[in-house]
Amino acid sequence: MPNDAVLKLEGKDYSLPTIVGSEGEKAIDVRNLRAQTGFITYDDGFANTGSCLSDITFIDGDAGILRYRGYPIEQLAEQSSFVEVAYLIINGHLPNPTQRRRFGDLLREHSPVHSDMAHLFEGFPIGSHPMAILSALLNSLGCYYPHLATNRPQEDLANFEEAAAIAISKVRTIAAMSYRKSRGLPYIFPKRSLPYCENFLHMMFSMPYEDYVPTPEVASALNLFLLLHADHEQNCSTSTVRMVASSGANLFASTAAGVCALWGPLHGGANMAVIEMLASIHAEGDDGSKFIENAKSGKGGNRLMGFGHRVYRNYDPRAKIIKASFDKALASLGIKDDPLLAIARRLEEAALKDDYFVSRKLYPNVDFYSGLIMRAIGIPQNMFTVMFAIGRMPGWIAHWKEVASNPKNKIYRPRQVYVGPTKRDFVPLEKRG
Ligand code: ACO
Repeated sequence: MPNDAVLKLEGKDYSLPTIVGSEGEKAIDVRNLRAQTGFITYDDGFANTGSCLSDITFIDGDAGILRYRGYPIEQLAEQSSFVEVAYLIINGHLPNPTQRRRFGDLLREHSPVHSDMAHLFEGFPIGSHPMAILSALLNSLGCYYPHLATNRPQEDLANFEEAAAIAISKVRTIAAMSYRKSRGLPYIFPKRSLPYCENFLHMMFSMPYEDYVPTPEVASALNLFLLLHADHEQNCSTSTVRMVASSGANLFASTAAGVCALWGPLHGGANMAVIEMLASIHAEGDDGSKFIENAKSGKGGNRLMGFGHRVYRNYDPRAKIIKASFDKALASLGIKDDPLLAIARRLEEAALKDDYFVSRKLYPNVDFYSGLIMRAIGIPQNMFTVMFAIGRMPGWIAHWKEVASNPKNKIYRPRQVYVGPTKRDFVPLEKRG
């Protein structure tokens, strides 16, 4: 074929087909490479490996482009809402008014958790990390809804609409309950009358004797945060969801695994790590310059958290949107002089002029400002990554569905290049020195 790649190996030529995606992304199809040549590819961290064909999200990291189902993130951030975007990501099209109403009704119907579930929270010690609780309780949903978690993809797909609504709605209820548990506060029941974000804030911050009513600006800042996190193609947690799904595991088990993968500081934990970094810079009386020098030298394992991205070699478009909405949100919250914000702005300005960061194409990612937004709207620090998980749920669900409904699905099973000891004989314990 004229566009095939030609690979020369041990004196022989092999022809490898190429694939071009709908946005012109090019790939060499190596699916038959091992059978043809005996070789496998080696790609530590999968930076050059396409693990699937997907029609959910498009990213051009060099140009700083992000689109959900073809729609630019800027347009969605400006004109849509998290719930509408969740529908879009899961179903592939924007809902018409009837579909939108039905989706909202399903989310409302599924917002409370089974009363037995409250007992699960009691088993966790005070101070348990809410990500651990979230992952465990999401997985347990399969026990409360066994007909939605058969681990037979065709059967699970038949009830997909209900399972997806349960996951999106309950992730928020479980998150709020884990916060209340960590503070020793009574659980607050969801209210049917409230929209998605307002209901979450109600479950987080209301008291039995007084309702918490967020300002429209706070609710819209949360809405924007969730919408911007709704999907991001084959990142660490989504790849984890797909990997678990590829074995035929149900939606709840697969997304619970996604929560675990998201937890780490190099992924979803970065928003929390950014605030910790800013607070420690502030506590040390540094203006940020000492920290930048340490981050450049790698001293003490420091990195400039919230900077750099595996895919974006340009400004993360989500960071641009958050930054642009930031001043409005802070003004509406009456926050004028946040010392951590001042440090963040200085760090960003300094890094964007510094050859170390410029030459490595390290720009602010979404987490650089998202932690500050969360902090401003009163979300406690150990809940930041949980907030990310609530936002990412629609993406995980859409990817689970893509895997489960692929008639040619193969279990994810990478190979390795073994570099350990060659064959050796067992030595009995008494003869070992
Ligand atoms: N601060 C200082 N140096 C950095 C940073 C950083 N934040 N990020 C990368 N570098 C340097 C590396 O030390 C390396 O330098 P070298 O070439 O001299 O060895 C070079 O840039 C390339 O770094 P890699 O780790 O190879 O880049 P990779 O693409 O694997 O990592 C990652 C991307 C994990 C996001 C990284 O940039 C990082 O650790 N950033 C901070 C954590 C963070 O903000 N994570 C959130 C990611 S976005 C998200 O999950 C929503």
